[in-house]
Amino acid sequence: MVLPLSSWKSSEMTMSQCLINWNSRADPNCVGLFEADEYRLVNDFFCSQSDSDPDPTPLLHLRVLASELGIGDILLKDESARLGLNSFKILGVSYAVGRLLGEGRLAKDSVLVCASEGNHGRALASVAVRNKLQARIYVAADTSPARSKAIEREGAQIIVVDGNYDDAVKQAARDAELYGWQIISDTSWAGYEEIPRWIMSGYTKLMTEAEMQWSPDPPPDVVFVQAGVGGLACAVVSWLCQRYGTKRPFVIVCEPVSAACLLESSRAGKPVTLNGPFNTIMAGLRCGEVSPIAWPVISESADAFVSIDDEQCGSAMRILAHPSGGDPVVTAGAAGACGLSGLLAILQDVRLRSVRGASGLNTQSRVLAINTEGVTDPEGYARITGREIETVIAAS
Ligand SMILES: Cc1ncc(COP(=O)(O)O)c(C=O)c1O
Repeated sequence: MVLPLSSWKSSEMTMSQCLINWNSRADPNCVGLFEADEYRLVNDFFCSQSDSDPDPTPLLHLRVLASELGIGDILLKDESARLGLNSFKILGVSYAVGRLLGEGRLAKDSVLVCASEGNHGRALASVAVRNKLQARIYVAADTSPARSKAIEREGAQIIVVDGNYDDAVKQAARDAELYGWQIISDTSWAGYEEIPRWIMSGYTKLMTEAEMQWSPDPPPDVVFVQAGVGGLACAVVSWLCQRYGTKRPFVIVCEPVSAACLLESSRAGKPVTLNGPFNTIMAGLRCGEVSPIAWPVISESADAFVSIDDEQCGSAMRILAHPSGGDPVVTAGAAGACGLSGLLAILQDVRLRSVRGASGLNTQSRVLAINTEGVTDPEGYARITGREIETVIAAS
């Protein structure tokens, strides 16, 4: 069931903003962050892991929703159950740790550390345990207990930082330096770029899979990708530039209203730091600083930025949990539903109409969104969707 436009209270939409990057097609030779060789290495790595990664995650079609919205098709790459975890994040971590192991750069007793809002930390904990290494994950003071517990259950030690995610990043880096631990961060900073770069190249696996799944159809016309520090957005934009050049789809980067650091950086023409508070249900996207190595690619080649409020995101979660007609049931956490929220928002929120126009969305358009996470906070999920996760899974 699609919520009628009237259910989107105008008071709740006032904060959504958008920005079109009119220069995104200025460089016809833009290939993104990675050389062709990097994609081959990523592919070889995941092929060599095929025992633990037997199947691609599904590329679902939400045809009924698409027809209700007046567009051609919605393809949803569903990362809610990637490799036994519930987000896409394991792709980046397993590739980066695999590279370090392959190069003999981790000792038997290495301690892997990172800051996390939940998903990256859980992925790192899982990869550390699989490789008989230790993991210490730094979380912001207000990280939901469900997300912290999920990390602990993977076998990691949690360190609660008095501050937000960006403070946790800084403390994890300081401690790693002090104690000689290996930091596996999804965001970069001056002098720390190699591993975040590998993490981003690992993410491109989901696009390679998606292309095999949408073929022989042409690529989608519009792609929605949600952003925290911008690692996933950089990976998706890079892959699309490399693969399709100037014929690539129109890419719309989606962020929470309270943590739209990419949109604000694009507006400023340089990376800006937001200080919060980052009050949003989209926990995985509560970041105030873009990853410096992701920024040049995003600023040059992403086509538009939209910020999404929690009500819009909640609507997308409910639509996925209670789909129309024959559309599949999809379990999506709030950050996971952010990309689809972007589509709904540009179609239904008058403030975002310019992006709809620039994207060229029409009745024939096929769009791609990524459900980047499943249910990472069952209580929050039940509150927002009105359904217990078990009931949703039973119906799917
Ligand atoms: C579920 C989910 N989606 C999207 C993202 C955004 O990824 P990035 O921080 O690389 O922009 C995250 C980040 O943790 C996440 O957890």
